[in-house]
Amino acid sequence: MAEMDIRLDYHYMSPEAVGAAAGISRESLAALEEPLRNVQQLIQERQSANSDPLGFLDLPYQPVTEISRLEKIADSLAALGDRHIVLGIGGSYLGAKAVIDALTDPFRNERSRRERQGRPRIAFEGNNLDPAAMQALLSLLPTEQPDDLDRDFTLNVISKSGTTLETALAFRILRQRMLQVYGPTYAKRIVATTDAKRGLLYQQAVSENFEHLVIPDDVGGRFSVLTPVGLLPAAVAGVDISGLLAGARRLAERMRQLAPLQNPAYLYAALQYLSARGGRNISVMVSWGKALEGVAMWYDQLCAESLGKEGGGRIPISAVNTRDLHARGQQLQQGPRNAVITNLAIDRHPDDLAVPCDEGNSDQLNYVAGKTLGQILQRAREATLYAYARDGRPSLTIHLPELNAFTLGQLFYLLEVATLVEGHLCRINPLDQPGVEDYKSFMFGLLGRPDKAHYLKEFAERPAADPAFVI
Ligand code: PA5
Repeated sequence: MAEMDIRLDYHYMSPEAVGAAAGISRESLAALEEPLRNVQQLIQERQSANSDPLGFLDLPYQPVTEISRLEKIADSLAALGDRHIVLGIGGSYLGAKAVIDALTDPFRNERSRRERQGRPRIAFEGNNLDPAAMQALLSLLPTEQPDDLDRDFTLNVISKSGTTLETALAFRILRQRMLQVYGPTYAKRIVATTDAKRGLLYQQAVSENFEHLVIPDDVGGRFSVLTPVGLLPAAVAGVDISGLLAGARRLAERMRQLAPLQNPAYLYAALQYLSARGGRNISVMVSWGKALEGVAMWYDQLCAESLGKEGGGRIPISAVNTRDLHARGQQLQQGPRNAVITNLAIDRHPDDLAVPCDEGNSDQLNYVAGKTLGQILQRAREATLYAYARDGRPSLTIHLPELNAFTLGQLFYLLEVATLVEGHLCRINPLDQPGVEDYKSFMFGLLGRPDKAHYLKEFAERPAADPAFVI
C-alpha cells in the first residue's frame, strides 16, 4: 500500500534551492511546531475555532452499507437513462466534477453506452444563471417519452441549504421538463441530495417522493466531496467510490502517526502560511496534464472560500501545464515575486504513449522518439521548476504515484485537512463563508424577494453613477 502513498516534495521551497529571500527557513518552520501541535490536538479532539462542524474528518470511515446503498442508487439511475444531469454549485458541484474528470475518460460522453460500460453520460448544470447553457441542455433532452434508453434522462439536485438560486432555478426548469416527458412516474428519476430534515429541497423530496440523500449536518459544503454530494455522481459515472474512501482513510491513518512537520497536510499548511505571510499570497495550483484540472478548481474554491476573510487569505489560481506554460508561464517566471506554485504530478501513467520514430524526421523530433508523453511531461515539469527555482521562485509538488481512486481520495483529504490547519494558523474560521451572503442579499432584493426588500431600498438609494465614467 505504501507504494500508493502520495508524497509532498518541498525542496524548491528551501533557502538552499531558491535563495534566502524566497525560501522558507528551517527555523521559521520549527517555530510553527508548537502552534501546529496545538492545532493537531484541537483537531484530534474535534474542536474547531468557532464550534463549526468538523464532520468531514470522519468521512473516510463511513460504513460499507452506506457505500453499497449509494452504488445501488447509482445503478438504478444508470438503468433508467443514458443521460444523468447533476445540479449544484460551489461545494455542491466542484468535487463531483473533479472526481469524474480525474478518473473517467475525458471523452466519455462521446463514447457509446457499451464503451461506457453502461454508465450514463453526465452533464453538470445549476452552477450558473446562463440562459445559453440551459437552452443547450434543454435542447438535448426529449420533449416526450422516448422509446430508447439513449434519450432517457435522470436528475440529481444537490443543495445543502435547498435555497441556492442557481441550483433551485435549474431544478425548477428541468423538473418541469421531466414532468412533461414522464408524467406522474417522473419522481423515480430524481434524487435530491440535501439536508437531513430541513430546507425547501428536503420538503420537496418528501412531498414528491424523490430519493433523498443526506448531506450530514456537520459537513460544510466545500468539504463534502466524500459525502453523497461527490460520491453519488462519481458512482453513477462508474468510479470506484470505496477506493476514494480507502485512500482518504489511508492518509488519515498515516497522519495520525506523524509529527506535524512530517505530516503532509500540516506541512503544506505551514509552508503556504509562511509564504503568504512573507508576501507570496498568489497561490497557483498546477495540474501537470489535464486530469487534475478539476481538482485544482475544487481547491481554488476550498482555499478561497475558507481562507479569504478579514482582509487576508491567499488568492488561489488554477492552471494546467504544459498548456499554461504558454500563458501564465511567462508571468510566473518573470512577473512579480508574489506567487507560490503547488504542482500536482502523476508519476506513472499506465496508459502512456511512446513517440513514434519517423523515417524522414521532417519535424526533427526523432530525438524524443521512443520516449513516452508521460516522460516528456515529467521532463517539462522538472525543467520548469528548476528554471523557477534558479530565479528565486518557489514551488512544491504533490506526487501521486498513479492517478486512481485511492490516490485521489488521499489528495482530497490532504487538502481539506491542510485548509483547516491553515485557517487555525491564520486565526480565522475556515468553515464559514459570511462574505458570500452579501451578494445574495442584494441579488434577492433586486429580484423582488419580499424578505430582502431593505436591500433593494439600499441599492435604489446608492449614489448615482457619474455618466462620465461610462464611455
Ligand atoms: O462551501 C460552501 O458552503 C458553499 O460553496 C456551498 O457549497 C455552495 O454555496 C452551495 O450551497 P448549497 O449546497 O446550500 O446549495
